[in-house]
Amino acid sequence: MYDAKLEISRLLTPHVADLDTEEIYDMLEVPPNPDMGDLALPCFKLSRIMRKSPVQIAEELAAAIEANEHVERIESVSGYLNFFLNKSKFIKETLTHILEAGERYGSSDTGKGKTIVIDYSSPNIAKPFHVGHLRSTSIGNSLYRIFEFMGYRCVGINYLGDWGTQFGKLITAYKHWGSEEDVKKGLVDELVSLYVRFHKEAEEKPELEEEARQWFALLEQGDEEARRLWKWFIDISLEEYQKIYDLLGVKFDSYNGESFYNDKMQPVIRELEEKGLLKESQGAMIVDLEEEGLPPCLILKSDGSTLYATRDIAAAIYRKKTYDFDKCIYVTGVSQSLHFKQWFKVIEKMGYDWHKDLYHVPFGTVSIGGEKLATRTGKVVLLEEILNKAIEKTLEIIEEKNPNLENKHEVAKQMGVGAVIFSDLFSNRIKDVSFSWDEVLNFDGETGPYVQYTHARACSVLRKAGEEGSRMQTGFDSSILASKEEYNLVKTLSDFPVRIKQALDELEPSIITRYLVDVAQDFNRFYHEHPILTEDRALRSARLALVQAARLTLANGLWLIGLHAPERV
Ligand code: ARG
Repeated sequence: MYDAKLEISRLLTPHVADLDTEEIYDMLEVPPNPDMGDLALPCFKLSRIMRKSPVQIAEELAAAIEANEHVERIESVSGYLNFFLNKSKFIKETLTHILEAGERYGSSDTGKGKTIVIDYSSPNIAKPFHVGHLRSTSIGNSLYRIFEFMGYRCVGINYLGDWGTQFGKLITAYKHWGSEEDVKKGLVDELVSLYVRFHKEAEEKPELEEEARQWFALLEQGDEEARRLWKWFIDISLEEYQKIYDLLGVKFDSYNGESFYNDKMQPVIRELEEKGLLKESQGAMIVDLEEEGLPPCLILKSDGSTLYATRDIAAAIYRKKTYDFDKCIYVTGVSQSLHFKQWFKVIEKMGYDWHKDLYHVPFGTVSIGGEKLATRTGKVVLLEEILNKAIEKTLEIIEEKNPNLENKHEVAKQMGVGAVIFSDLFSNRIKDVSFSWDEVLNFDGETGPYVQYTHARACSVLRKAGEEGSRMQTGFDSSILASKEEYNLVKTLSDFPVRIKQALDELEPSIITRYLVDVAQDFNRFYHEHPILTEDRALRSARLALVQAARLTLANGLWLIGLHAPERV
C-alpha cells in the first residue's frame, strides 16, 4: 500500500546524517492540527547528533529539501519540519489500493505459517451465561478474526468449565431437592437455582459440603450415576450456550474443556516430580514459586484431587504438542491474573522455552450497580435477556423508521446484537465496566448501530448510483476531491492497516471499535457537506470511489469485531 510516510523518510534520508530511513520513519509524527501539515519531523531529537539548535536544523532542512511528486510543500516552524502531502497523489494511491483490495483491504500475510491458539468464552457448566462471559467471548472472537485477517492459522478453543468440585455440589443438591422433571423443564435456570440453594443450605448444614466432596470423588472414580448426571448437566448447558453463540455469530474449533484433561494430568504430575519441582506442603503437593516472588502453585490437594492449575498445565502441554502454536492466548477476567502468572512460571520451570508464548489477556470486572456478579448469590444479568431486549428495541426503531424493510427481523438481530458487542468492545479491555441497561440500549452517538447505519447509508448511495455504484470507480480523477472533508476521510481510511496492526500487537480489539467511529464520523461529515450523485460526471465518479472505499473499510472493520454490516436498515 502507498505509504506517504515512507516516501517522506526517503526524501529526508540523504539530508540527515547518521540516521537511516527506518529511524527517520519512526520519528515522523502526525501534527495535532492539520493546518500544520500531514506529517512533521520534530528536530529536537536531532539536535544532539547534529550539534545545532532544532530551529536551525528545521530551517536548513526546509531550505535544502525540494518538494517532489509526493510532497507539495515543506515548512519550518519553531523546530518542526512540516510536510504537506501532494493530496491528489495520496488520494489516488490510497483509494485505488482500497478498491483493488476490496474485502481484503487491511489484511496481510505476515502471519503465514504461524498458529495462534485462543482460549475464550469458556463458561462454567451449569452456571448461567452472564454479561461477564460476553467479554471473554467477544474479545476472543475479535482477536481470532484479527489474527486470521493477518494470515495466521487460528484455533479457537472453548475450554468449558466441565470439571471440578461444583459438580459434587450440584449432584448433592439434585439428589436432595431436584427432580428429573424440574430440570427438564427449567434447564440451566433450574441447575442454577439448585446450585444457589446448595450454598444457602450449606451455611447451616456444613455436612452438605462433605457430601458434595464425596460425590465429586465418586465422579472422579467413574461412578456410573455420578457420570450420568454430570453428562446430563453438560448437555443441557451446552444446548443453551449454543443458542447464545448462534446469536453472537461465534464459532469454536474445539470444545475440549477441563474434563478432557482428566487422563492427561498424571503424566504431567510425574514429569513435575521427575524434574524435582513437586514439594509437599501441609499434605498438599505444590510447586514452590518463592524465588519468583509468587505464592506456590497448588498441583494436588491433600485428598489427591487435581486443581484448576493442574488442568491448565496439562492443557497447555497438550496444545503445544497438538497445534505447535506460536502464541497461546487466554482471555479471562483480571481476577485470574495471578493464576496465569503462577502456572506460566511452572511451565518455565519445567524447562519449556515456549512459556514466553503464553499470553494472558485480562479484562476488567463487570459490575451491576456497584456490585460484583456472582452466580452463588444469584447476582447476574443474563446475556440472553440483554440480547433479546436489544433486538426488540431495534425492531421497534425499524418499525418506526422503515416499516417496509425486507427481512427486518434479521436486520434487527444483526443490529441489536451488534449494539451489545460493540459497547462491550468499546473501552480498553482492562477497564472495569458497570453494566447499565440505559447504556447498552442507547443507540445514539458512538455505538454499533451508528456505524452499521453509516455503512447502510453508503450502500444506499451506491445503489442509487446504479451500475456506476456497483462498478469499482478506479479510473477517477483524484484532483477533484479537494475539500477538507474528503481529504480527512481518505486520511482516516488509509490508517486502517496501522490500526489493525496496533490492535494485534496490543491484543486490543477496542482499537478497531474506536477506529470505526472515526471512519463513520468522517464519512458523515463528508456526506452532509458534499452532494455525491451530481450531474458532473467526473466529480460523481470520484466521490463514488470515496464512498466505495469507505463502505469497504467499514464492512471490513465491523467484521473484525464480530459485527454484521447490513446493506439496508
Ligand atoms: N472457566 C473459567 C471461568 O469461567 C475460564 C477458563 C479460562 N481458560 C483457562 N484455560 N483457564 O472463569
